[in-house]
Amino acid sequence: MKGIILAGGYGTRLYPITKSISKNILPIYDKPTVYYTISILMLSNIRDILIISTPEDISAYKRLLGDGNKLGLNFIYMIQESPLGLADAFIIGEDFIGNDSVALILGDNIIYGETFPNILHEAATLKEGAIIFGYYVDDPKSYGVVEFDKNGKVISLEEKPSAPKSNYAVPGIYFYDNKVIEFAKSVLPSARGEIEITSVNKAYLELDQLQVKILTDILWIDTGTYDNLLEASNFIKSIQKDKLLCIGSIERIAYEKGYISKEQLLTLAESMSKSGYGKYLKSIAERS
Ligand code: G1P
Repeated sequence: MKGIILAGGYGTRLYPITKSISKNILPIYDKPTVYYTISILMLSNIRDILIISTPEDISAYKRLLGDGNKLGLNFIYMIQESPLGLADAFIIGEDFIGNDSVALILGDNIIYGETFPNILHEAATLKEGAIIFGYYVDDPKSYGVVEFDKNGKVISLEEKPSAPKSNYAVPGIYFYDNKVIEFAKSVLPSARGEIEITSVNKAYLELDQLQVKILTDILWIDTGTYDNLLEASNFIKSIQKDKLLCIGSIERIAYEKGYISKEQLLTLAESMSKSGYGKYLKSIAERS
């Protein structure tokens, strides 16, 4: 399975912060936001990752992440000229996806939970159809919303409905078989002029090939507002302190998965030796 991170858009809801910095480079406590999204793909055992961003911002991602070799990953970069919608990622990434299945994650979605890695492993073994998730929120109006019948079967999907039919929002992580490329090409743009991911999901629903897994005991934060950014930073800080964990550490995951050696991890730690994060990586290498 291939992975795509969509780090496009201009982050206008966060202006002036994002006037000169891409939203997904902003820090969530001690790491850039995109670290958390990459880590979700890594926990899904995905190593080929396409990063899509704007013409202005793509160089910042290249500077931060390089070609991925130092993490035992393969990063490819492509540009989205204008924000045409999430599903546009599959058209931009058609050659990169090839005949494979693909996971898409939005660069500003933070998801954490102890059971989440197992859910990701399973989703990444998808052979046919699509897997998306449902997450209970108080006010789902600004998300894709999924409606279930009394037996838990999905009966409708709507993008940003003014009268949501349920409280289940669809977080920005999606797993698809290869048909997603054709679906993305065939769905019509919405009223806001975007090729909506919800339209692609509806195409799978019509084929009866859409699975929606409810996420419980998991925290999802879409870091699109000042308050969400702060909430995400505070959450990561507190959980790292309480559980002595480091969430979203792509270097640590690469080491634990055997993609890089202890020496390579120490070299990465050395390059950041003045920061707490670099010291953390050093301690991981030395402790094992
Ligand atoms: C997008 C999707 C929406 C999804 C959300 C998750 O919304 O269109 O279906 O629930 O991401 O973050 P947007 O980022 O366009 O507001």
